[in-house]
Amino acid sequence: MLNNNAIDARWMDAAARLALRGRPVSSPNPSVGCILVKDGQVLARGWTQAGGRPHAEAHALAALEPGAARGATAYVTLEPCAHMSERGPACAELLADAQPKRVVIGALDPDPRTAGKGVSLLQKSGIEVEVLDNERARKSLAGYFARADFGRPHVTLKLAMSLDGCIALADGTSQWITGETARAHVHSRRALADAILVGGGTWRADTPRLDVRLPGLEERSPRKVLLSRNEAPDGIEVIRSPHDVSKLDGLQYLYVEGGAGVAASFLEADLVDRIEVYRAPIIIGDGLRALSGLGIGNLPSAHDRWVMAEACQLGSDTFTAYQRRR
Ligand SMILES: NC(=O)c1ccc[n+]([C@@H]2O[C@H](COP(=O)([O-])OP(=O)(O)OC[C@H]3O[C@@H](n4cnc5c(N)ncnc54)[C@H](OP(=O)(O)O)[C@@H]3O)[C@@H](O)[C@H]2O)c1
Repeated sequence: MLNNNAIDARWMDAAARLALRGRPVSSPNPSVGCILVKDGQVLARGWTQAGGRPHAEAHALAALEPGAARGATAYVTLEPCAHMSERGPACAELLADAQPKRVVIGALDPDPRTAGKGVSLLQKSGIEVEVLDNERARKSLAGYFARADFGRPHVTLKLAMSLDGCIALADGTSQWITGETARAHVHSRRALADAILVGGGTWRADTPRLDVRLPGLEERSPRKVLLSRNEAPDGIEVIRSPHDVSKLDGLQYLYVEGGAGVAASFLEADLVDRIEVYRAPIIIGDGLRALSGLGIGNLPSAHDRWVMAEACQLGSDTFTAYQRRR
């Protein structure tokens, strides 16, 4: 039998998974998940829609008859917004009208238009409010919090490498190191990003298409960004330094696909929040190393920076994701 805290955490997990449906199409708004529950049954579910509206709470409440949410519990990954907008009502007001018994919030909203005001508006209307500071909810909002905390998007670095840590042969050939399943997985990860970035070296070696080639997800191909000190090719945005990612408008999630020079530059600048490693069961030997020139002078400083977040097998390859400890 689960206690009440465990029940809340379980529904919040479900709301955070739901929020993934809006990533990244909800940009520039955060992708939020909302589940309305009564007597252990789901009444309605909502997530932030493409373009950022309707918000998750409005989406969920729209599925119900008037009065149906009375007495329910609303699980929302982010504090309901307290500000009116030309594009829609304040979600805290909508919930106040719908009168659930409780609203359980995964994380407070750092946006000054809402910060704490969503909570007090709900409380003033007699609704019980609980703020969990839930890890899964915060993770599902990683891009939004990266913008709020660091003024830049959340950055994922992808590396597809051999067992011995090479991302290409010595002559630069890198197609293909991993198998079909791992490559399809990469495309599913691209579909969760607002933009993909590669370096000038990869552009000159491979001219990659940087699109999503999974049936049904083709229109989820992200913006393309090049890190280079050289002239920009047509159809791709160029930044001159890893720190310029903060200048890329409206971006919450950036997926960095290498190569080695770019990976090292982003890590050196401490701009990587997550590393996703695809490792193929091949040995290359004298190939291009995944990373170079990081200048790590002592082992203690290399420890405690990364924690494993996810791992699975993809065909004959493995996938492991690591989260930066901050
Ligand atoms: N297996 C994989 O996952 C994978 C993924 C991608 C690529 N690759 C392979 O990796 C190889 C390319 O790697 P690479 O190391 O030669 O090239 P790269 O990392 O793609 O690009 C290096 C270039 O990026 C730009 N750059 C890097 N740091 C910068 C900084 N701090 N400021 C401004 N610009 C910066 C410069 O571009 P400019 O020279 O234009 O100024 C630099 O020459 C290719 O063989 C490719 O096939 C493998």
